[in-house]
Amino acid sequence: ISKVVIVACGTAAYAGEIARYAIEKWARLSVAVELAHEFRYRDPVIDAGTLVIAISQSGETMDTLMATRYAKEHGAKVLAVCNTQGATLARESDAVLYTHAGPEVAVASTKALVAQITAGLLIALYLADVRGAQPAAELQRLGLELLKLPAKVTETIAIAKIGEQLGETFKDAKSVLFLGRNVGFPVAMEGALKLKELAYIHAEGFAAGELKHGPIALIDQGQPVIVIVPSPNAPDSLNAKVVSNIQEIRARGARVIAIAEQGDQSVADFVEQVIYLPSTEQLLAPVLQVIPLQVFAMALASAKGLDVDQPRNLAKSVTVE
Ligand code: AGP
Repeated sequence: ISKVVIVACGTAAYAGEIARYAIEKWARLSVAVELAHEFRYRDPVIDAGTLVIAISQSGETMDTLMATRYAKEHGAKVLAVCNTQGATLARESDAVLYTHAGPEVAVASTKALVAQITAGLLIALYLADVRGAQPAAELQRLGLELLKLPAKVTETIAIAKIGEQLGETFKDAKSVLFLGRNVGFPVAMEGALKLKELAYIHAEGFAAGELKHGPIALIDQGQPVIVIVPSPNAPDSLNAKVVSNIQEIRARGARVIAIAEQGDQSVADFVEQVIYLPSTEQLLAPVLQVIPLQVFAMALASAKGLDVDQPRNLAKSVTVE
């Protein structure tokens, strides 16, 4: 294959964005992530050298199904990442990687997302392996880090309870902004989507580097901002760059909650609260980072007396266009 195109909708598309960082970094393959409903009407350039990865919890999302049918008609191979045994998407694809998250009862995708991100990381490692894109020792190291994640997820679920206290604090917020950088960017967008879905609060996720290009105009006294802080070990001084963003928005009155790595001393002085998560490899961190954001959305919804499992106007699977 010469390129990968990931098609999905909503939260599943954010899992795809996270997979993109890992596939490009580890397997050295070009990846595009497309919202399925945009992809199929755009006359996209795909051929037999394209691997299309369709991510869907339900496997019945009409837009994702139609995108994969389009891809197959144009000669691409389709790999489904699906949580529902025997779903239409799984049956129609050339291969399927089941996420085995178990039935997800609540409308909002939570554990399914964690499993989708993990599946994306496994696909990235597999592609890196078969393409010989990374030394075997590096792949083994990354694989071992991945194996440590279940215990770290358990730890994170306990830590994320801090997020429950934030429900009362922010329940009257009119808008909440989320900032992330690199693989933290799709995490920020997912945090915003979850808040919209569950608590009906306007929320936007931004790439932290984009702040000065517009979004900083939104920062006013008391504006809540959740920041996903890269590990101090992340390359390219990403940690320092995001801490600098935090200082900028703090100076303009933002109330900042940071999601940072245990042992990171750089943020505490500039924020209202830090939620410290277990340390892991940079590209694996989203598996943990999405959890406190899910808890935050749930806490705000609960504080507002809303039904977190059945939000208004939403269906678990969107089987029409
Ligand atoms: C997630 O919380 C949403 N309810 C929604 O964005 C969902 O992820 C999207 O509709 C895709 O669903 P699927 O994974 O079943 O295809």
